[in-house]
Order: sequence, then structure tokens, then C-alpha cells
Amino acid sequence: MTDTIYATVAVLGAGTMGAGIAQVCAQAGASVVLQDITEEFVSKGLVRVRDFLQKGVDKGKVTAEQRDLVLGRITTTTDRKGACRGADLVIEAVPEKLELKNGLFRELSTVVTPTCVLASNTSSLSLAKVFAGVSGQARCIGMHFFNPVPLMALLELVRTDATSQATIDAVTTFAKQLGKEAIVVKDSPGFASSRLGVCLGLEAIRMLDSGVASAEDIDKAMVLGYGHPMGPLKLTDLVGLDVRLAIADYLTKELDHPGFKAPELMRRMVAEGKLGKKTGQGFYRW
Ligand code: CAA
Repeated sequence: MTDTIYATVAVLGAGTMGAGIAQVCAQAGASVVLQDITEEFVSKGLVRVRDFLQKGVDKGKVTAEQRDLVLGRITTTTDRKGACRGADLVIEAVPEKLELKNGLFRELSTVVTPTCVLASNTSSLSLAKVFAGVSGQARCIGMHFFNPVPLMALLELVRTDATSQATIDAVTTFAKQLGKEAIVVKDSPGFASSRLGVCLGLEAIRMLDSGVASAEDIDKAMVLGYGHPMGPLKLTDLVGLDVRLAIADYLTKELDHPGFKAPELMRRMVAEGKLGKKTGQGFYRW
């Protein structure tokens, strides 16, 4: 555990991604304020972190002291402005709604210090739109993390035309401190990761729907034949069918490419609440 270039990090949104982001920042040595809109959401987020660390202890990967140290570095709040006021870095991980994210950054840019870096964990939305109207655009950047955040090695940094090289360099250093490898990608729909990953997932759903093979066998094709750690259907379950459906609809609109058109099966499953791992049922039963 080392000191990080950002001593205090505010993480907005305590869902799967926000909790994971809070955990890795605290593991790297930062003081973290984890914020969400209700006490229930923030305490669920903290339970996620605690459970993950406890599993780490059970697996012999984390010591009980490290677990307690990391948990001791995370405080929770429902006060968004208060969380951001003293922060060196704000990472937003709220639901993928452009108006929500943009409104939040517009509000915060008047609260945070002029040097505070503003980052969004959006997985596909235009960062130029997320940060539209925000003062100090040079310090605004995309920091796209991957699920499960503590285990995945990649951090996709997304630069807008306004992002300064100094911001990119500093966040790249921070990525290393988090134990992640950064890639730098231009602000374009789906960036480098979601554009390719979602395309594969949607095609796998179309193949399942037209009876090409079972979910298990489609996944095995990619795991055993291509060396992917997880097949595209299981991964869609892990990420959430609702999350990927929203990305698919957004990419269809932005890229005008038939490969991103969401399959009917996916829409039906989302409408039925079969969202994957988080609801216990997706292409697999969890
Ligand atoms: N604490 C500490 N270490 C832990 C741990 C914990 N709670 N849980 C697991 N680990 C360690 C394990 O001990 C193991 O370490 P070694 O390699 O040293 O043995 C390692 O982490 C892997 O864990 P497991 O063996 O339990 O699990 P696995 O090998 O089956 O891998 C996985 C699990 C990392 C999730 C892997 O299946 C994988 O990479 N899947 C693909 C995930 C992926 O593609 N995610 C991206 C989704 S897209 C996204 O997130 C973007 C978006 O915007 C929506």
C-alpha cells in the first residue's frame, strides 16, 4: 500500500462499479468518500467491498489487517457536494444516463477545487456531452473500469479534445498506483472496449436465439477456442443485460451499424427482469 497522487478520492455511485472503484482506490492508499443518494445504497456498496475483501482473506490473498486498513480508508455519505468539496479526484459511477451525469458534473464543477480532476466511468457515452458546460474542461477525463473492478487489469482512459496532456499523464500514473494498465482512447462511441465487447455479446445472443448452439457451447467456443476468460453470454450475465442493452441502443444510434442492433430475445429478457447475475437469472441461473 503506497501513497497515491490523489490523496482524497470521491466516488459517486455505490453500485457494483462504484464500490469496486472505491475499493481499489483505498487499496492503493487513498482516502475515499463513497457517495450515493440513499443510506441503503451506500451501505450496500460498503457491504460489497467488505464481502470482496473477506473473500480475499478466505482465499489467502488479503490479510485481515489489509482488509481492515482498506475498509478504514472508506467513509460513506449521501451528501454529494460535501463528498466532492475536499477531493483531489472525483470519479462518477452513476447510472448510464447522459442528463444525470452531465447535470451532476455541472453542479460539481462549481463546488470542487480548480485542480480537482473530474472523471466519468461511463462505458460508452460521449464524454464531450457528459462534460458539456462544465468549467475547467482540461481536467475532465473518462476513467472506464471493468467488472469485477478489483480483478481486472485494464483502465480505459478516454480523452476529449479538451482534456490536457497533464491530466492524462497524472491519471495514467494513478492507474499504475491502482495496479491497472491504462490505455488512452479518443472520445468516440463505445471507446475501444465496449464497441468490440458488446458487438460480440449481441452476436452470441442472436446465435443462441436462432439455435446455432446452446449458451454453454457458444461460450465454450470463445473460452476454449479463443482463450477468452469467460464466454460472451456468461459475460453479458455478469455485466447485466440491461446495461448492455442500453449500450447497444446507444451505439446503434451513434454508429448506425446493424451489428449493434439489440436482439429481440435480449429486450424480452430485460422486460422480464432477467438481467443476469444481479437478479439470479440471465442466460444462466446464478
Ligand atoms: N480478493 C482477492 N483476490 C481474489 C478475489 C478476492 N475476493 N477473488 C478472486 N481473487 C483472485 C483469485 O485468487 C485468482 O488469483 P490467481 O490468479 O493469483 O490465482 C484471481 O483473482 C482470479 O480469480 P478466480 O480464480 O476466482 O476467478 P477466475 O479465474 O474464474 O476469473 C474473472 C474470474 C477475473 C472474473 C474472469 O472470469 C474474467 O476475467 N472474466 C471476464 C470479465 C470481463 O470481461 N469483464 C469485463 C466486463 S465489461 C465491463 O465491465 C465494462 C462495462 O463498462 C460494463
